[in-house]
Amino acid sequence: MRTLMTAGRGASTAIALPLLFGLCTALGAQQGRGRGAAEPQAPAAPVKPLVPVATNTVVAHPETYYGERVTMTASVQNILSKSAFSVAQKTVGDAAKAKMSGQDVLVLAPKLQAAVTPNAYLTVFGEVVKFDPEEVAKKAKDYKLDLPADAIEKYRGKPALIATAVINESFLDLTWRMPPPATPDEEALDRLMKKIQPAFGALRGSIDGSNVDVTTQNAVALKQAFAEVEAIWKSRGKTEPMQWAADARKNAEAIETAATTGKWEAAKTAAGPLGQACGTCHTAYRERFDDGSYRIKTSK
Ligand code: HEC
Repeated sequence: MRTLMTAGRGASTAIALPLLFGLCTALGAQQGRGRGAAEPQAPAAPVKPLVPVATNTVVAHPETYYGERVTMTASVQNILSKSAFSVAQKTVGDAAKAKMSGQDVLVLAPKLQAAVTPNAYLTVFGEVVKFDPEEVAKKAKDYKLDLPADAIEKYRGKPALIATAVINESFLDLTWRMPPPATPDEEALDRLMKKIQPAFGALRGSIDGSNVDVTTQNAVALKQAFAEVEAIWKSRGKTEPMQWAADARKNAEAIETAATTGKWEAAKTAAGPLGQACGTCHTAYRERFDDGSYRIKTSK
């Protein structure tokens, strides 16, 4: 894990961490499937591990790998469509490329969001299939194969990978749906939320500990932040979240008053709905993108 992270030069940790986390949970979920404590004890289906392979091994012994989940680290040879390219073990020049023709493995990445670049070194994850449009349609139901006819003929009957992840040299997964650029009010909202989160955490602890100073300080911070949140939704013409923010502001204010007068039960009572407001508004108005960043739901 450490080597992966330090090797991820250029990738900000904000992006690299959710990726690693995503990979780990994806792998963990695969490996741990059927073993959840609360799940009924049905016999656990054996889970196939991901096998790291070289493209030339797959080309030499395709039958061994059909139906297997593999990872391949190799460089891009031919870019065939928006969602398809081929990879081979070495970065090669044109002459060498010709010689290696037939040594490349077709990669179909139904969810590819960003273009791959020629010769880029990638790690692809997915299942190996014997390439045939019908087989692909069975395995990737929502995918529309967009290969040109000559490419279909070239790779037919050869091993291909249906990729679920395509990781580039900066440890970014090119199958990720990335957020659109933030608008100024989204940036403002994001800054406010990043203040609200720790303030709310500290507030809960300080109410439990009947700490007047810390409670007051954080209640005031929340009161001010939610007043700004309210203004943002007002300017966007959204009454519902505007009202939730106004209620949150009032609850923060009630906590401030309660703390200064030593009414800790009243402070606890106001902290309940204040905490619930977070989830209510997030469920309705917040969207998480694949890189771990949050935005206002695009549908809102
Ligand atoms: C009225 C709606 C609303 C309320 C109430 C609200 N949030 Fe948010 N929050 C959002 C939206 C929308 C986003 C996504 C926008 C963004 O971050 O740019 C968000 C994002 C966040 C984020 C992610 C910030 C990031 O980018 O890492 C955190 C953390 C957060 N909220 C915490 C809280 C907490 C804690 C509370 C309650 C004390 C709360 N929010 C109450 C609407 C709300």
